[in-house]
Amino acid sequence: MAILKVARLGHPILRRVADPLPPEAIPTPETQRFIDDMIETMREHDGVGLAAPQVHVSRQIAVLEVQGSPRYPDLPAVPLTVLINPALTPLGDETVEEWEGCLSIPDLRGRVPRYRAVRLEALGRQGEPVELVVKEFFARVLQHECDHLKGRVYLDRMPDLGSLAHLREWTRYWLPGPEREE
Ligand code: NI
Repeated sequence: MAILKVARLGHPILRRVADPLPPEAIPTPETQRFIDDMIETMREHDGVGLAAPQVHVSRQIAVLEVQGSPRYPDLPAVPLTVLINPALTPLGDETVEEWEGCLSIPDLRGRVPRYRAVRLEALGRQGEPVELVVKEFFARVLQHECDHLKGRVYLDRMPDLGSLAHLREWTRYWLPGPEREE
């Protein structure tokens, strides 16, 4: 496995709509190795999610994971999830505002409203259909990663940039829990 280079804000690939992955390409060794590399890259950077455009590949693939960790006791666990060609549908109008960060936007945190609950339809890493209803933090990470596949970043979702904070200041004045990036 390899740790991939992460694209930072300003790289045009982060603003492109990613191409769907043809289902027949899912089982190929190239795709399977790329998914393994995405997982390794996410873990290396202590991320809770990573989308393929963030590693310079404009394909509709994302990985998510939050491991139960003594370092991050307050983060709700999210099982390792591989998503290919995902589609999200909000369940209800209710939104929740919380802090987000992004591996492609280092050293910043901001408060972002997201739907509290969403339905996910996607393909899994073997091409199997995945359908999930998720809420709260898992739903937030899903919305953040699916935005990356549409060329959007969390800054685009902030109605008010007034909460933006550099990491050091955020830790000092606003820290609600462990550091996390998506
Ligand atoms: Ni991100």
